[in-house]
Amino acid sequence: MSTINVAILGFGTVGEGVYRILNEKKRAIKERTGYDIQVVSILVRDLSKTRIPTPGVEITDNLQALFEQSKIDVVFEAIVGETPTFTYLTEAINKGCHVITANKAMFAKHGPELLKQAIEKGVQVGYEATTAGGIPIIRTIQNLLASDRIYRIQGVLNGTSNFILTKMRQDAAPFKAALHQAQELGYAEADPTDDISGMDAFRKLMILSQLAFGKQPKWATVKMDGIDKVIAEDVLSAGRKDLRFRHIAEISWDESGEIFGCVGPVLIGADHPLYGVDGVDNAVIVETEYLGALTLIGPGAGMYPTGSAMISDLLQILATRNRELVTS
Ligand code: HSE
Repeated sequence: MSTINVAILGFGTVGEGVYRILNEKKRAIKERTGYDIQVVSILVRDLSKTRIPTPGVEITDNLQALFEQSKIDVVFEAIVGETPTFTYLTEAINKGCHVITANKAMFAKHGPELLKQAIEKGVQVGYEATTAGGIPIIRTIQNLLASDRIYRIQGVLNGTSNFILTKMRQDAAPFKAALHQAQELGYAEADPTDDISGMDAFRKLMILSQLAFGKQPKWATVKMDGIDKVIAEDVLSAGRKDLRFRHIAEISWDESGEIFGCVGPVLIGADHPLYGVDGVDNAVIVETEYLGALTLIGPGAGMYPTGSAMISDLLQILATRNRELVTS
């Protein structure tokens, strides 16, 4: 029985979700893949913080110590922010680790470079959890691209914004109270500015653009608004007319190869496919040459949906490893 040594960088909502699922599904993963997954180290910023018990796991605030303590096979990264994460993951790749990230800010900017490094080192980078929470949108697009061509992607990509808009409409909740609830439920970022300004959805859109079209538009050309400008009275009065605000991110490609993107609140009617997407759910509509429109809907944030997206990356990595063993 082979053992896979795992390190988790960051132990907030998402890092804890990964740890919990790896423990809860340890046996199932072993039965399915043949690998015994051992979480050996967790990197945290503040050692004094109270956390759930993690017996047998080294908790450290020192990345070098983490790499020196044991041979790590897979690094799960769930740190907030662009830096120093990119440096951490570059180091992990250089040490021959597969990396699985949920970090949108880092990946929107450095994803192509990270993927290049990984190819050079013969390791894999999983980034399913960067975009649309538990919806398997990255894998779906990767599969589609093998035989199809994507023209447009439109979606609700920020769970916090959708949750707040839904609470404002259904319960006449004040913006601040709805945001507070989203924070308590672990949907919002520690600093929710990126959620409500549209930045978080913008970054996810850039990740989708890179994957679907092989490039991103110039960031400054993408019009970006958040839900912070939507006022309660507008939400309620729209509701009385059977209209709903949705925070929608959209990217499209034309025959000349130019890419157009926009992110912001949009008023939609019951005939729109995103009308019924309420609460923390995200939705992504992918328009392709052969398929027409494909819509995926599911939880866009939270400990278990995001954690499970990262575990699906792990399973993919292990499946590839098994295939390589069979063919070598
Ligand atoms: N704060 C993010 C959201 C978390 O609300 O969508 C998931 O990326």
